[in-house]
Amino acid sequence: MIATKERIIPKEFVEKFHKEHPDADIWPSVIADHIALISLIEYFNIKTVFEFGTWRGCTTLLFYSHPNIKKVATLDIHKDMNITYNSPKRGAMDAKGDMRIHEAHPQSEKNFYGSFFRGKPIKQIFCDSMKYVPAEKYDMVFVDANHDYTHVKNDTELALKMAKKIIAWHDYNNGVLGVLGEPGVVVYLDELINAGNKIVATYPGSCVVFMENKEE
Ligand SMILES: C[S@@+](CC[C@H](N)C(=O)[O-])C[C@H]1O[C@@H](n2cnc3c(N)ncnc32)[C@H](O)[C@@H]1O
Repeated sequence: MIATKERIIPKEFVEKFHKEHPDADIWPSVIADHIALISLIEYFNIKTVFEFGTWRGCTTLLFYSHPNIKKVATLDIHKDMNITYNSPKRGAMDAKGDMRIHEAHPQSEKNFYGSFFRGKPIKQIFCDSMKYVPAEKYDMVFVDANHDYTHVKNDTELALKMAKKIIAWHDYNNGVLGVLGEPGVVVYLDELINAGNKIVATYPGSCVVFMENKEE
């Protein structure tokens, strides 16, 4: 748990963000998650962030909006890409699910592909994370793309190469994913914990956990 009294709890920053972006609040857990992510940025003095999983670009914009942040890159698939799915289940976060939404509601395209940060100098990468070859390092890597086991493992292995300070994952403490049948984050991260890695929960009510990944 990192919510100790010496920590800054960036409630004001996150409340201001949500006031400016009222549609950012789509899940009950989202404010706790945003507080957790911004507290990591402040605590670890994070200046650069890479994100696996853009969707509307809400967390991307949250990172970008923080005054510490100098550079943000975010990666997602595009509906016109030829993706080979290996997840048989319909998780809210898996690529197949998103593709079905695209197919059913082509007009909803504005809700995808980083609509929150349109026009901002954020590096947007369209690539299947299974095929991604990292070119740069970032202080923090945030893993929040396809939540099935194979993808979380792939994205985490890339994050281990890319993160200068920390890796954060979304949806570890999230019962919803279990219900939807995609417990990949929990299963894979528990393997990492059992292998001796110290993965730390953030704030109560938040689905964000993190691990330090110090450079040699
Ligand atoms: C949970 S959403 C990301 C939400 C975003 N981080 C936020 O909180 O605002 C997951 C995203 O991962 C993307 N995704 C799924 N499979 C992917 C893959 N193989 N490579 C890259 N992105 C993928 C989906 O298209 C979706 O937009």
